[in-house]
Amino acid sequence: MTLKIIPTTPIDGQMPGTSGLRKKTRVFMTPGYLENFIQATFDAIGGGQGKRFVVGGDGRYFNKQAIQTILKMAAGNGASEVIVGQNGILSTPAASHLIRLNKTDGGFILSASHNPGGIDEDFGVKFNAENGGPAPENLTAKMFEATKSITEYRTVDAQDIDLASIGTAHLGDMKVQIVDPVTDYEGLMETLFDFNAIRALFQGGFTMQFDAMHAVTGPYATAIIEGTLGAAKGTVVNGTPLEDFGNGHPDPNPIWAKSLMDLMMSDHAPDIGAASDGDGDRNMIVGRGAYVTPSDSLAILAANAHLAPAYSGGLAGIARSMPTSAASDRVAEKLGIGSYETPTGWKFFGNLLDAGKVTICGEESAGTGSDHVREKDGLWAVLLWLNILAVRKQSVADVVQDHWQTYGRDYYSRFDYEDVPTEQADALMGGLRAKLSELAGQSHGALTVASADEFSYHDPVDGSVSKNQGVRIAFEGGARAVFRLSGTGTQGATLRLYLEQFSGLGGDVTQDTQDALAQVRDAAQAICAMQDTIGRTTPDVIT
Ligand code: G6P
Ligand code: ZN
Repeated sequence: MTLKIIPTTPIDGQMPGTSGLRKKTRVFMTPGYLENFIQATFDAIGGGQGKRFVVGGDGRYFNKQAIQTILKMAAGNGASEVIVGQNGILSTPAASHLIRLNKTDGGFILSASHNPGGIDEDFGVKFNAENGGPAPENLTAKMFEATKSITEYRTVDAQDIDLASIGTAHLGDMKVQIVDPVTDYEGLMETLFDFNAIRALFQGGFTMQFDAMHAVTGPYATAIIEGTLGAAKGTVVNGTPLEDFGNGHPDPNPIWAKSLMDLMMSDHAPDIGAASDGDGDRNMIVGRGAYVTPSDSLAILAANAHLAPAYSGGLAGIARSMPTSAASDRVAEKLGIGSYETPTGWKFFGNLLDAGKVTICGEESAGTGSDHVREKDGLWAVLLWLNILAVRKQSVADVVQDHWQTYGRDYYSRFDYEDVPTEQADALMGGLRAKLSELAGQSHGALTVASADEFSYHDPVDGSVSKNQGVRIAFEGGARAVFRLSGTGTQGATLRLYLEQFSGLGGDVTQDTQDALAQVRDAAQAICAMQDTIGRTTPDVIT
């Protein structure tokens, strides 16, 4: 096996976004593209010499090939050991756990999350640091700098590793440990939840459908939910990871998990429906006839977490991303614990979790998680729901209703405008910014603006400041509109408009969501001159 130092030149646009570097698969397959980015990552962390890493991905097209490239480059950079999921499979939360469990120097996760997979779809790579969490902004900035000055990458001339065989292999002096992707993750879940109570729930006839969307959680959910917890065979559907996710869009929301939604709204719905995304960090929860918004799910999980063994001592605090509704703030207030508002992107929770300021975090984009790993965790959220239902012996719909009666309801919806020409999206955001200072006091339809600003995050742990994290407009009467551009798209710009309206304590919690949000929607679209700037007001996707 020989070391190879390959000359290369910088490639434009290798800037990690909300969640790593995401591009079209064919772009990643261009010779040198993946190599440059991986070498830049090694350079940004001070080289790979003597270091240990975890590598795995969601099984999408190009996953295995990319893993072989990374293994050889790790060896070329002097790494001492790499832990890899069998067949290249690791869910994002399982990878985060393996980094922490084995105290490695970080890990590479190959995924474009919920984006479709295939040679003409999306691929992605992200680096997680030794705390198991996504690289923080100072590190992604260094990685980007390194991509701009790269002159060579290091690899080795060697045979591919057999990723199917569990056990130890070698690339020169570097050890490659192929591990079962589920075992350690399941062990962790068992320490957090009352598996006996959940087992008894299923034994008592409780029914479920878990849609793995042909993505990475299939093997995890089958082993844990059907295997260990004894749910009926067939509870997990679409449970085999496919390179193109069965031509689907592995995003667990009412649009993309439509067949599950249809089932849950029908008269033969099981007691609970759940789904997870491409890499297993997102989740969707739906009861019989009752979809639970991610913002509500965060609040409900936080309010009931003490019913699960790991959280029986209470929570240190709750964090949510800025566009997530205020529902979880109300829970934190009642519990008398801290609540934190961070920019979109799980990486911003890392410092709060590491410092012990928060235990549970969540985002409107279907992510919920806790301090057990440093990623959001789809299956964790599902298991916590099951644990809560097993103890409360109530239906999902009853738990949700009870929550709204206690705290009031935060009606919530997100409108996505996809593939907007970048200049138009920038013009809309620029136009909003320019008028922020004059908005307060203005009336739009029935609503009056209470405050308007652009969100800047001051990290209370390391003092860093992240600017331009979205425009937020609060209205008198408990409505809010937030505008931001997605950081995870691979084509044009995606404009997100997040709408919410608080019912008030004791207010009407029975309205249709879109009806309850009509006033704030109209006001938000008027304020940003949406029709004039991007030529439309009807979104492509409403969640
Ligand atoms: C990924 C990140 C999340 C983030 C989401 C939405 O899933 O892990 O933390 O909330 O993307 O990001 P976007 O920038 O597309 O709104
Ligand atoms: Zn994901």
